Amino acid sequence: MTDVLDAEHRTGQIRIHDAAGFEGMRVAGKLAAECLDLLTPHVVPGAVTEKLDDMAREFILDHGAIPACLFYRGYGKTTCISPNHIVCHGIPGERVLREGDIVNIDVTVIVDGWHGDTSRMYGVGEIAPRAKRLIDVTYESIQRGLDQVKPGNRTGDIGYAIQQYVESMRCSVVRDFCGHGLGKVFHDAPNILHFGQKGTGEVLQPGMFFTIEPMVNLGKHSVKLLSDGWTAVTRDKSLSAQCEHSIGVTETGYEIFTGSPAGLFKPPVQGA
Ligand code: MF3
Ligand code: CO
Ligand code: CO
Repeated sequence: MTDVLDAEHRTGQIRIHDAAGFEGMRVAGKLAAECLDLLTPHVVPGAVTEKLDDMAREFILDHGAIPACLFYRGYGKTTCISPNHIVCHGIPGERVLREGDIVNIDVTVIVDGWHGDTSRMYGVGEIAPRAKRLIDVTYESIQRGLDQVKPGNRTGDIGYAIQQYVESMRCSVVRDFCGHGLGKVFHDAPNILHFGQKGTGEVLQPGMFFTIEPMVNLGKHSVKLLSDGWTAVTRDKSLSAQCEHSIGVTETGYEIFTGSPAGLFKPPVQGA
């Protein structure tokens, strides 16, 4: 997702894509989703996050695609892997996943120039009821956002719907990162804030492509950046969850480009 401070410097016009763009995004989105499908059985106690990243990179390269994050602004990995109180941009490394962790894995691939960007929550072994509840709230929140996507609605309608729902569930929405336009560009206009006011922001039009990727915390919304310059964590160390789809606005609503062919966008969790 995009850093809101960086995003404010984005002046570009919102691009409107044609049928060929939709076809390009379908192919890229599907490969990104298949990459997360592939990882699902491997997100288990004892898994080393760097090994999961290696699997993702090999899968993407084997399919003739490009890992978009590798070398992006100096980032050195294919995926972002963000357990527990890491909000986003966790860097895969020697960390070993443990029973009870919840973890977001975010991957972006480039196929024929088109970007497919998606993330999901995985439960490691058996997870606690409050962790399960946070994940459920996060998935319901993206759906509330998607329900607002149709021509004539505004980007603020998406953020408003997400925030209203999340706060009604006594959770909070992260303010410091947002969804983003994408296509042949990774992070493009418009910004998709996951909070805000109805009737504000850009008017949605058929052919716009963007992500919705709410980050939801069990505690307060504040985040801080660790000294590695990437890892964002909740200030109060509360658990954080996220999920992300890349979508296109159609004449009547939206098309999800990153749906899971295996039906694993919301992976099953044990316990709780
Ligand atoms: N995939 C992230 C997003 O949703 C971007 C990660 S950029 C990286 O936009 F450099 F941290 F990988
Ligand atoms: Co994104
Ligand atoms: Co992403």
